[in-house]
Amino acid sequence: MTWWQDGVIYQIYPRSFHDTNGDGVGDLAGITERLDHLAWLGIDAIWITPIMPSPDSDWGYDVAFYTGVQPVLGDLEGFDRLVAGADARGIKVVLDLVPNHTSSKHRWFREARASKSSPRRDYYVWADPKPDGSPPNNWRSSFGGPAWTMDPVSRQYYLHNFLPTQPDLNWWSEEVREEFDQILRFWFDRGVAGFRIDVAHAIVKDKELRDNPPAEPGDHPYVAAFGQRKVYNAERPEAHDVFRRWRAIAEEYDPPRLLLGETYVLDVERLRPFFGAGDELQLAFNFVFLHSPFTAEGLRSIVDATERALDGPDTWPVWAISTHDLPRYVDRWAAGSADRARCALLMLLTLRGTPVLYYGDELGMADVPVPPEQRRDPVGTGAFDAGPGRDPCRTPMPWSAGPGGGFTTPEARPWLPLSTQPGVTVEEQRDDPGSMLVLSRDLIALRRAEPDLSSGGYEPLAAPDGLWAFRRGERFVVALNLSDTAGAVDLPSGGRIRIATRRARDGEAVQGPLALGPGEAAVVELTR
Ligand code: NOJ
Ligand code: CA
Repeated sequence: MTWWQDGVIYQIYPRSFHDTNGDGVGDLAGITERLDHLAWLGIDAIWITPIMPSPDSDWGYDVAFYTGVQPVLGDLEGFDRLVAGADARGIKVVLDLVPNHTSSKHRWFREARASKSSPRRDYYVWADPKPDGSPPNNWRSSFGGPAWTMDPVSRQYYLHNFLPTQPDLNWWSEEVREEFDQILRFWFDRGVAGFRIDVAHAIVKDKELRDNPPAEPGDHPYVAAFGQRKVYNAERPEAHDVFRRWRAIAEEYDPPRLLLGETYVLDVERLRPFFGAGDELQLAFNFVFLHSPFTAEGLRSIVDATERALDGPDTWPVWAISTHDLPRYVDRWAAGSADRARCALLMLLTLRGTPVLYYGDELGMADVPVPPEQRRDPVGTGAFDAGPGRDPCRTPMPWSAGPGGGFTTPEARPWLPLSTQPGVTVEEQRDDPGSMLVLSRDLIALRRAEPDLSSGGYEPLAAPDGLWAFRRGERFVVALNLSDTAGAVDLPSGGRIRIATRRARDGEAVQGPLALGPGEAAVVELTR
């Protein structure tokens, strides 16, 4: 087993982790300062969302230069200090790579749009309007509206699966592929342990730019809401050439570098191809799980299906309960219930596969309401979506109570509002044995101490409605009661509770069925 299989990954939104210079924006030095906390928590790797120079129209997901650091976050020397500090604590550093698109301010795009004969023209996807002047096909941007914007200079449209300021790269271009080979090596040579790959499911587009078919009845609700199936602008067969190329580069290093895909497919069976024959991505994020209802039946059916789809030697599941793109699990799943939130955390840290914690998950941090005038996310500022956008899940890490929240100086104005959730700070939870933070730490430690919990198989057990129980390896059973009434699960043998969400039950002997109150979960070690 390698670190990305038996370890725990911790996702950091760098602008919101810790601000060391009082400008209200988290920075790389802030992550370095907090490494002792992360080591205490017991995580194995951090994944930092984009740190490269960017005009921030999509907060770093619009990269203007791939081999540098966004000045507000720090510089390359500061990055090296972060990697060295992490290394000294046995923590790996994973960065976010954005290969699907660049910023429209990237030199490549500025050169490409200058003229049709620019040597960079082919780095992007251009097409003539239809005879009536409309876009070349029906593809829609993931942020709403057509995926095409007319460029007045050449009277051609360029493709953008996200904002018009995020033109899509043309992955049919060998030069684009070579540019990214260099970018991967640049960061791998600097000690980066791997990349989370943004939009890995959609980098290559149909060469003929064919229209997508409409959504069909029975499609996942998100596909239905989007209105079309992304047949021609996602999951194209040619993407596998690119993944194999990257994997070969990752394997040139010792230890091999990790490729963790943002593989946004809404059917777990479609995760399998991203692994290739063990020569493509090592991990592929599971969005079906993230979008699951928080019910025993919903979660279990998705986890079971994932287990069936990813049962080969070249595959490995990866689980997250929150990300920087969705409401936090405390809101999305637990509706503010501390008990249910504890169940979610216990589940995440006991499933077979790599858990990815999003900063604040370990505290039970909830979304922070962001008033319209303070919104920063382009998806929440009205142009694309009048909703609250993604800012509420991207607010500063609550380190301590009081002005600045331990995130920034008391005088500074944080870039997004601080949480005021009572009791949800590192300082208040760290020494409280009943806290979420200590629960997280203890679950991570148990997982590390018990190989059954990291590498043991997953086998669902019979359980009444509203409850879900699964065996991990030979000696462990995990049981969750996600219903509103008390219930019980039959265990294969007697045992002892190692960790329960209600910590007073830790160590309790279990003979016969395991009784669980509503919103209660436990990890049981079976008697040998
Ligand atoms: C997925 C990222 O997670 C999201 O934050 C971003 O807006 C889009 N990709 C576009 O890069
Ligand atoms: Ca700062």
